[in-house]
Amino acid sequence: MNPIAPVVSRSGRFASGPADDVAAFSESISFDWQLWRHDIRGSLAHAAMLARIGILSETELLAIQQGLTDIGREIAAGNFSWNPSMEDVHMNIESELTRRVAAGSKLHTARSRNDQVALDMRLWLRDEIEFALQDIALLQASLLGLADRFSDLTIPGYTHLQRAQPVYVAHHLLAYIEMLARDASRLHDARKRLNVCPLGSGAIAGSTLPIDREFVAAQLGFVDAEGRPRLTQNSMDAVSDRDFIVEFCAAAALCSIHLSRLSEDIILWVSSEFNFLRLSDAYTTGSSLMPQKKNPDVAELTRGKSGRVVGNLVSLLVLLKGLPMTYNRDLQEDKERLFDTAHTLRSCLRLMAGMLNQAEFRREVCTAASLDPQLLATDLADHLVRYGLPFREAHHLVGAAVAYAERTGKSLNRLSIDDFRSISPKFPDDATSVFDLARGLAQRQMVGSPGTTEIARQLSLWRQRLQVPLVP
Ligand code: ARG
Repeated sequence: MNPIAPVVSRSGRFASGPADDVAAFSESISFDWQLWRHDIRGSLAHAAMLARIGILSETELLAIQQGLTDIGREIAAGNFSWNPSMEDVHMNIESELTRRVAAGSKLHTARSRNDQVALDMRLWLRDEIEFALQDIALLQASLLGLADRFSDLTIPGYTHLQRAQPVYVAHHLLAYIEMLARDASRLHDARKRLNVCPLGSGAIAGSTLPIDREFVAAQLGFVDAEGRPRLTQNSMDAVSDRDFIVEFCAAAALCSIHLSRLSEDIILWVSSEFNFLRLSDAYTTGSSLMPQKKNPDVAELTRGKSGRVVGNLVSLLVLLKGLPMTYNRDLQEDKERLFDTAHTLRSCLRLMAGMLNQAEFRREVCTAASLDPQLLATDLADHLVRYGLPFREAHHLVGAAVAYAERTGKSLNRLSIDDFRSISPKFPDDATSVFDLARGLAQRQMVGSPGTTEIARQLSLWRQRLQVPLVP
């Protein structure tokens, strides 16, 4: 047993350890153990640098590398016992290393837990953003798959939750694919900004030793597009700001709001009132009391969890608000908020993807709802514009026709040309020809509209972007 080991956490400054309740209050190992892989990765790079500048001998470096690799293997296998009295993941790994390898006591040269934890968080989040991006792509592919399976199906589009105009269901689903694409691009931006190496900032003021920050940064992949190392430029900033975490949590909050809106649509669509969509049994639950119930709990929980993700963002902003320079222990509170955000977001994305892969639209119900002739009232007004009427007047005349239909108990598309003429002689002979859904949709040709050819174009564009083959 190495005699230096027990003093890794408490230096000669202290006569006693912290009181039990203080230790319990301040420990973070119960959650920051999740940083172990990145902590070890950072230590390996730091050790290699220390050897390069002659602080570690080759033999010492090899011993440290072997020790850290062994510890990593044990943690991965679940055979490592975390020691709460060692406070956090950094102390746990370093003290265990030092217990096994004498040279471990040199590892913390020119390093503080302040720059170490800033490094670990950046490394962890960089990976997590990659995973989140994969999960976003997975959900986009599920939305696209559903859109492809029902590419010719229409539903009413809604504003104010009132029937507005007909759309392809694919158009509705593509809207979420677009939102998710912006979420992904926000994550890409956040990733670019966080990919800067803070190690070497020390506790607050760097080090008097001749460390090689560029070397460490390059080892850890903190490089620009040309492969040049990217280093934080101010040691005080580097150890005390967590804006990169806030950025991620803000992007995640927006993404989870998008998921919440999608959930809300799904919840409405599976209600008996809409009845547009059927979810598979695997993604629904029953009621303990009402035998007939099939509840969309996955969608409801996704909607609910967005509150938590937004809450995490707000917690982080408030956490940072009044902090004086530089590192303050308050910052330890960033971890649970960040971990929870990443885990919650990713599970919502994956569950939603799985649910949509097995969801089916009810063709008959959707088609019947889209045949509501009032959905084409605006098309009729456009038609009058083609005959030279100012739109405001056309709008007024069609409104009068809708009121007439309601008064006489006829549906709008059943009004005869005489009915229309009795409202205004300005209705042309072919006024009723607009009540042809297929024709109406074919006429919407501009970019971004739910027109027949535009939707086909958008679907194939997204199939290419997401590299999803068309399933026959
Ligand atoms: N567990 C700490 C945190 O998460 C690590 C840094 C501790 N630094 C210190 N000076 N006590 O912030």
